Amino acid sequence: MGLTTRTPSRAPSRRLCRAHVLALLGMLGLFGTSALGGCSGQMADQPSYKTGEFARLPASGSIPMVPRKPWASRLPPGTATASTPLLVNQAMIAEGKQLYADNCGFCHGARGLGDGPVGEVYAPKPANFQLPRLVSATDGRIYEVITNGYSTMPAFYKRLSPEERWRVVAYVRELQHGRE
Ligand code: HEC
Repeated sequence: MGLTTRTPSRAPSRRLCRAHVLALLGMLGLFGTSALGGCSGQMADQPSYKTGEFARLPASGSIPMVPRKPWASRLPPGTATASTPLLVNQAMIAEGKQLYADNCGFCHGARGLGDGPVGEVYAPKPANFQLPRLVSATDGRIYEVITNGYSTMPAFYKRLSPEERWRVVAYVRELQHGRE
């Protein structure tokens, strides 16, 4: 009777014991491999990425939240050159188009008519670039609006470099002249 009561109580503990041994062997196996991997035994000496290192390049068209850049400051009004200082060519316009799509189109609309989906919630609505006042505005004026923002429109001086802002200006000009 004593034997029959002991046996079932021992059986699970034996199974438990086997499980422990297996787990222990598994852990030894793991430690063994990692010990071979990191020769110096130092935590810092391992194939992981360090702070500030990126595993891969950002996807094309993504908007990086970059740390403060030397160019990232507002522009005193009226100080931008009247016409773009960059040579406007097809490559520049294509880049401007992408930047416009990533930063402006959702408010101003794909064609710059002030009808982007996010712009819907704004009062006043995002500007329609076809307004005569904006068609006749200088490149520099549009550059300043992008740099400093305008009433409820956010400023882009931190997010877009000066070159990127001029590329966007070039694309806004294309939209205004119906070339896009
Ligand atoms: C979050 C929405 C939003 C985004 C993003 C945005 N804008 Fe605007 N923008 C506005 C609004 C709203 C106004 C109009 C504000 C007003 O009339 O008071 C405006 C006005 C303007 C004007 C006219 C300023 C004037 O003198 O009347 C220009 C030019 C302009 N935006 C260009 C851009 C460009 C280029 C981008 C991208 C780099 C951009 N905006 C991104 C909301 C936005």
